[in-house]
Amino acid sequence: MCGVFGYVGKEDPLSVCLAGLEQLEYRGYDSTGIGGICKGEIVFCKKAGKLSLLKQGLDLPPLEIAIAHTRWATHGRVNDQNAHPHLDGSGAIAVVHNGIIENYDALREDLRKEGARFSSETDTEVIAHLISKHYQGDLVEALHKAIAWLKGIFALVVIHKNHPHELYAAARACPLSVGFNDERNEAMVSSDPNAFQRPRLNVLFLQSNEIARVSSSRIDVYDQRLKKISKKTERLEGNFQPPAKGGFEHYMIKEIYEQPITIQKSLFGRCNGEVQFEELPPYFLNKIKQVWFLGCGTSANAGRIAALLFEEIARIPAQCEIASEARYRTPLLTPETLVVAISQSGETADTLAAMREAKKYGCKTLAICNVKSSTLMRESDAGILLNAGPEISVCSTKAFTSQLAVLTLLTLYFAQLKKQISPKQLHSFLEHLRAIPAQIQQILDTASDLQKLAKKYADYEHFFFMGRRYMFPTACEAALKLKEISYVNANGYPAGELKHGPIALLNPRFPVVAFCANQQTEEKISSNLMEVKARGAPVLAIASEPQENIGSIADDLFRVPHTIDELSPFASVVAGQLLAYYIAKERGCDIDQPRNLAKSVTVE
Ligand code: F6R
Repeated sequence: MCGVFGYVGKEDPLSVCLAGLEQLEYRGYDSTGIGGICKGEIVFCKKAGKLSLLKQGLDLPPLEIAIAHTRWATHGRVNDQNAHPHLDGSGAIAVVHNGIIENYDALREDLRKEGARFSSETDTEVIAHLISKHYQGDLVEALHKAIAWLKGIFALVVIHKNHPHELYAAARACPLSVGFNDERNEAMVSSDPNAFQRPRLNVLFLQSNEIARVSSSRIDVYDQRLKKISKKTERLEGNFQPPAKGGFEHYMIKEIYEQPITIQKSLFGRCNGEVQFEELPPYFLNKIKQVWFLGCGTSANAGRIAALLFEEIARIPAQCEIASEARYRTPLLTPETLVVAISQSGETADTLAAMREAKKYGCKTLAICNVKSSTLMRESDAGILLNAGPEISVCSTKAFTSQLAVLTLLTLYFAQLKKQISPKQLHSFLEHLRAIPAQIQQILDTASDLQKLAKKYADYEHFFFMGRRYMFPTACEAALKLKEISYVNANGYPAGELKHGPIALLNPRFPVVAFCANQQTEEKISSNLMEVKARGAPVLAIASEPQENIGSIADDLFRVPHTIDELSPFASVVAGQLLAYYIAKERGCDIDQPRNLAKSVTVE
């Protein structure tokens, strides 16, 4: 999704901004641009397509200050004109923007009537014109007046040709951080502090209509009444290592192979004898009577599995809601509801908005997240880190299994507190859980079998992925992987539901991938496989070692190691990830940056 970056300091602003954009690339984008001030004039270069294209055509003079952008189109097509930065009519102001201005159409009309001419279809250009309209020598004041007219969310970085040594930044419900290091005499602004690539940086986060004036030696922050405020800063420790593929062809496959380790990291220190989370004082959970999991995409699939675990093991009513829907319900939430917001990035706008909404009901909020400095971690009442390390591929893999590991432990933690599990049962459960990394390694060691299956299935355009109980959300997650990186139509269904409509679609060109490793429903899913076979659809089953019967029905079989039903999603989903990866590779797709997708979805 859009990323903004700005630099002021003694290094070459162009090179620093380009390096910043490289760090923002993983978020997913369709255009890039960079602008700056040279000899009192705004200059810029912007291009639809990859950052490499922008670099090829760069012909900017030496800059005194610079701002830069990766665009993920919301308003207006993907073309050079719509890429950022956007300028006001006089070319004095340049703006880069992440977010959505909901009332841009009305504002544009008003500005047009006042004589403004627009050269793009974007909502962002309206902001540049608005700032210009209110500018009378003080850019903080102009920005303050301009943003008062905006409905929606934004993270903005603005430069003005009359202020060649200052970046101006403003944010509303959209992440925006300012990083500075007094010794180095430089400052940066970005939607992702990890893009700063500097050791020992002090970082502050803007929010709620705050405005910052940023120079290389000084940062002034103003609140929404234009009162100067002092902000808490966080130290970003500098173990910064640029992402590397470590010999793998893609980040996705590297991250799939990291899972035996990343799962261990999620478990580390949290299940010695009994389950403990130092992040969660027991009083925080004592009065909880129901749990609401919130998330989007992959994180919502993890939440669905967690809801089943909570109901079955901790015996607490639990449900998972897609965050973008949860917001607009009239939920029966109370202060005795724990809202668990699950997000790899911690910046997903829908998840943040739903969590903020839940807070209005007095609910306690818990974030399960992979990014320590994220908005979700900062705004929730408590937070548990996944410790999976940066996930670069747009397609989420290792974050999902780490989410499962943490959510499983959270279930056991609650079960302990509520005395729903005996020490003996807990011990046995944890034994199975600790065996999961080795089981995943076993699957990775037989990845070549999935690669062969992928060759066979790569030409189909439609798939159903089906499963029962724990295997239903697992099937949904595996189907999501396939559709997002291969662009084939793959949908997850509860296996029993196919005959209520979807089965009408089946034919020999419409395979079914069946996730069978849930022992409790083995007989039922065998019958569902027969129903599918009877319609001539090819069947690829992912079943656990003892499930003999499945092998005799399916056309193709991939075996995963046996475990208890509650933990069966781990191995099965890794098989699904590998299948999706190899099919996408067969089809020659852009695996790490699939079209239209963004890693960090910061608009609702
Ligand atoms: C799928 C994928 C997305 C994300 C979703 C939520 O592979 O990556 O579906 O899971 O956009 O993102 P987070 O977890 O960052 O909130």
